[in-house]
Amino acid sequence: MSDGAPSFPALRGNDYRDTWCGQALPGRVGSEVRLAGWVHRRRDHGGLIFIDLRDRTGLVQLVFHPDEAGEAFQLGHKLRAEDVISVAGVVVERDPAMVNPEMATGAVEVKVGEATLISDADTPPFEVESFSGEVSEETRLRHRYLDLRREPMREAMELRHRVAQSMRSFLSGEGFLEIETPVLTRSTPEGARDFLVPSRLQRGSFYALPQSPQLFKQLLMIGGFERYFQIARCFRDEDLRADRQPDFTQLDIEMSFVDVEDVLDVNERLLAAVLGACGVEVSLPLPRLPYDVAIARYGTDKPDLRFGLEIVDLTEAFRESEFNAFRATIADGGVVRALNAGAREMSRSDLDGLVTDAQELGAKGLVWAVVEPEGWRSPVAKFLSAEEISAAAAALEGSEGDVLLLVADEPPVAAGVLGALRQRLGERYGLIKEGAQSLTWIVDWPLVGWNEGEGRWDPYNHPFTSPDGDFDPAQPGAARAKAYDVVWNGWEIGGGSIRISDPKLQSEVFKAIGMDQTEAEERFGFLLEALRYGAPPHGGIAYGLDRIVALLHGSSSIREVIAFPKTASGGDPLTGAPAPVDERQLRELGVTALGARKGDGG
Ligand code: AMO
Ligand code: AMP
Repeated sequence: MSDGAPSFPALRGNDYRDTWCGQALPGRVGSEVRLAGWVHRRRDHGGLIFIDLRDRTGLVQLVFHPDEAGEAFQLGHKLRAEDVISVAGVVVERDPAMVNPEMATGAVEVKVGEATLISDADTPPFEVESFSGEVSEETRLRHRYLDLRREPMREAMELRHRVAQSMRSFLSGEGFLEIETPVLTRSTPEGARDFLVPSRLQRGSFYALPQSPQLFKQLLMIGGFERYFQIARCFRDEDLRADRQPDFTQLDIEMSFVDVEDVLDVNERLLAAVLGACGVEVSLPLPRLPYDVAIARYGTDKPDLRFGLEIVDLTEAFRESEFNAFRATIADGGVVRALNAGAREMSRSDLDGLVTDAQELGAKGLVWAVVEPEGWRSPVAKFLSAEEISAAAAALEGSEGDVLLLVADEPPVAAGVLGALRQRLGERYGLIKEGAQSLTWIVDWPLVGWNEGEGRWDPYNHPFTSPDGDFDPAQPGAARAKAYDVVWNGWEIGGGSIRISDPKLQSEVFKAIGMDQTEAEERFGFLLEALRYGAPPHGGIAYGLDRIVALLHGSSSIREVIAFPKTASGGDPLTGAPAPVDERQLRELGVTALGARKGDGG
């Protein structure tokens, strides 16, 4: 999905070049051109030397003739992959048998008259030209500047640019102003750990890098800007995955005098414009799925809706079951939920493999059953009554040969396990149609969720999200939020909310999530104060730009669409960050290094 490559203006000729490689086209046959770039590939052919020369616009074939280009020919002989050269020559038609339809410039070649070696290259640690996926990511990142020369990487960067451009253009057209907010700031909580930066001038104090521009964008609304956006770097110290980086990019948006519908309206049109510019048609309005329904049917708040395979609740069917794992779990407030995986050729060991999968995902176990004419074939069939089986089979719409998967557990565990199994089965059995897209809003979120470990209510999004309707501080768990997420093919690509614009309500919500007045004043006093000076009702959203680009690019990891990403352990193999710093720097900052360092014996 990376059609519509950028257009390149004619070059102002200089000693290096006057033409882009990709512009040495059939229309230019007979013209003299000067080109510069990297040696992509070199072949010796019966006295002729062929070189594919590469610049950002693409490739063009150079031919070095022994008799017509003596000195250049000598150089042609010595050239190796990734050398940087400049050549002058004439665009000629290729012999019809040699035309390469795969290449934009494949009908022509440039007959070289002069050639200069500008910069020679060491043997690269991997081939740019015939890259095989076998190169480790560590090696690619260690030499990212070489990796970036590969076409898929160049396409990813072009796509990223196009996405950012279309975001800017759409939002500017809707009256949004692009405004930057600080990177050295105070903690902006979004549920992750902060990266801290020690202050030299105020020893013992720290800046936090923003997890998002959330607080500043709200202050901009109080500052009267009404419509703001920013393509912002955000920093979150959390465990990394394919869709997470410690520093990543958000498209951050905020608007004033709006409610949920206003924000969704602009954002649907934004999504249609941005994805449309990258070849993905979006039909509006987008569907909306309440949070509770998403969890019940798909076991996750970011369901992949490109396929069905919905989770079914069987709690009532098994309430009195003789099978203890079901009955006891239900008696304890748990549920029995299940998937009908359909008629699949699964061996006993495939089925047992699913049990192991479920256990690895945190389930106590998994009951599988195959629907047969005379009942269920299942390791636990003997404990299940005919009524239970027929009630469950009806709810699951089971027909002969179908494989049923049942889990009994606390509701969040059952949902999580079946949600993950659903996704695996969808992928394993090809239930996702090639090219299918599903973009949906998840709406009607709870405001807070109980954090068992800490014994307190935690906000589902962040603590600035407005409750929907009246807020009863005695029952925060009952409150719904004016919050929304956008999910695309199973990835959360964005989320936002209407904010609390009343300082009293903001204080009540802080209190409900276990922040006493002193702490609230200490951490967010500036916001509470600002809210007292005439705050407009406001709300917004932020998108994960890296995720959007990865999905458009067809990459399974956002690292593929970030120029210089970090590895899973948070390091950058190219620069060696993070790295120890010298003692003097630490002393200046008034910081003592606690970590084990070379030579200190542990
Ligand atoms: P949230 O925390 O949901 O909301 O972040 C918004 C979007 O940012 C992307 N994202 C990430 N992408 C890559 N790596 C990460 N570590 C990472 N973390 C988040 C996701 C996510 O949907 N201030 C609120 C937005 C608001 O309320 O307006 C916020 O940051 O795609
Ligand atoms: P057990 O009685 O633990 O030997 O389990 C018998 C079968 O029931 C095994 O196939 C387990 O995987 C399955 N099982 C056990 N606990 C649960 C549960 N909570 N939900 C679903 N299946 C379970």
